[in-house]
Amino acid sequence: MSDSFNVVLLAAGKGTRLKIETPKPLCMALGQTLVEHVIDGINDFKGEDKELNFGIVVGHKKDEVQSHIQNSYSKIRFDFAHQKEQLGTGHALQVFFNDFRESFKTKYTFVTCADTPLIHGEIYQRLYEKIIESGAEAVCATFELEDPTGYGRIDEGENGFSIVEQKDASDEQRKIKKVNSGLYLFETQYIQKHINSLDDNNKSGEFYLTDLFSKEANVVTCNFKEASDFIGVNNLIQLSEAENFLREKKINNLLLSGVQIQVPSSVFIEKTVEIEPGSFIEPNVRLMGKTFIGKDSHIETGCVLKDVRLEKKVRLKAYSYLEGASVGANCQIGPMARLREGSKLGADVKIGNFVETKKAELENGVKVSHLSYVGDAEIGENTNIGCGFITCNYDGAHKHKTKIGKDSFIGSDCQMVAPIELGERVYIGSGSTINQDVPSDAFAIARQRQVTKEGMSKKFIKKK
Ligand code: UD1
Ligand code: CA
Repeated sequence: MSDSFNVVLLAAGKGTRLKIETPKPLCMALGQTLVEHVIDGINDFKGEDKELNFGIVVGHKKDEVQSHIQNSYSKIRFDFAHQKEQLGTGHALQVFFNDFRESFKTKYTFVTCADTPLIHGEIYQRLYEKIIESGAEAVCATFELEDPTGYGRIDEGENGFSIVEQKDASDEQRKIKKVNSGLYLFETQYIQKHINSLDDNNKSGEFYLTDLFSKEANVVTCNFKEASDFIGVNNLIQLSEAENFLREKKINNLLLSGVQIQVPSSVFIEKTVEIEPGSFIEPNVRLMGKTFIGKDSHIETGCVLKDVRLEKKVRLKAYSYLEGASVGANCQIGPMARLREGSKLGADVKIGNFVETKKAELENGVKVSHLSYVGDAEIGENTNIGCGFITCNYDGAHKHKTKIGKDSFIGSDCQMVAPIELGERVYIGSGSTINQDVPSDAFAIARQRQVTKEGMSKKFIKKK
């Protein structure tokens, strides 16, 4: 059996420097909150085989933060500790162990912050290896920055080091480029021994967690080269930087897996999106949520997709907007099409420009090529819908369904007054407003007969 771990995630701070209402752990980056990115990193480390207690210290807007976390990870049990007053990171850790004294029995404790969203599983793993190799009682993850402003500096002596916060640092210390990432691994006993000896004797008047590290103690640093993995979000500039690093990481993974992305700096692809190899993404595309793109699909410029499933070889033409839709293999959509929630397209369907679909099932080979609204509808295989078709699905109070059987032909500019059902192989003359069911194999037309009067146009054409 492997060692047992606590993770204590500090998420109680006010995030004052952000200057926005949203509590910092719930700020969004690449479609997820900061705290979700942190939890995902820890989960990667945990894997299937490790025993891990998950503690979270909440305080500022605690109900909001706590319920967001619990709803996002319904399968994980979190020990939430409440830090009523935010008296510093060291105080937050004290509060956690006061509330969950059982946690002292665990061999190791990671402490991490809710505002470092790029820290991933391999980093936790390296700290774990380091504490074993070094025989130290605590490891602090560090990295180097050309401009270390704002971070705690690693002040190294002959045998050990201490951490000096920006506010408390001398001019000499401020020049130090090696900084504290805010991620630590402790032997839990070490915390138990020292946690109550912290004081608030510093410029901020806070209990600093970083004071657990001192030059006399048996502690080491574990220095990491990739500074971007440790970016801490204290203001909105750093939030956008962190989001950009997350974005680049996602895109690089996709590129290495065989997805072509023409101008990587122009696309926004959330962490949760899956794309199969052989697909091609043009510039200025935005892919969100649980979107899945099957292999050899091609997404043209300006498309926006949220929670969409595309099977293989789909061509999405420019500026199409798809949300909650599923699209079969070899479909061609757009340009400028809008597929809304509940649109289900079979294979080889063609949707042209300025077509909107909602809760619509279009079976294999259906064509809706121009300027149409297809809502609350079922359209059978290979049926062709002409230009300017409308399902009149709403009577002001309720939505009604339109059904059209397979192999039918609906002329241009037709309206279906739902509820209505057309059989298979029907043919509807253009310009018809259909409000009665049509049986299979029938022809229906519903419009005024044309009247033509020779020589009469001069009565209406006005001369300037
Ligand atoms: C902290 C470190 C600093 C390090 C930096 C890395 C201390 C004293 N300083 O500074 O050395 O370089 O992180 O990003 O630890 N929090 C609480 N309760 C509190 C105060 C903070 O839960 O009373 C939480 C915050 O929600 C946040 C985390 O602790 O998630 C870090 O707090 P923050 O104020 O951002 O610390 P930094 O000034 O960034
Ligand atoms: Ca911070």
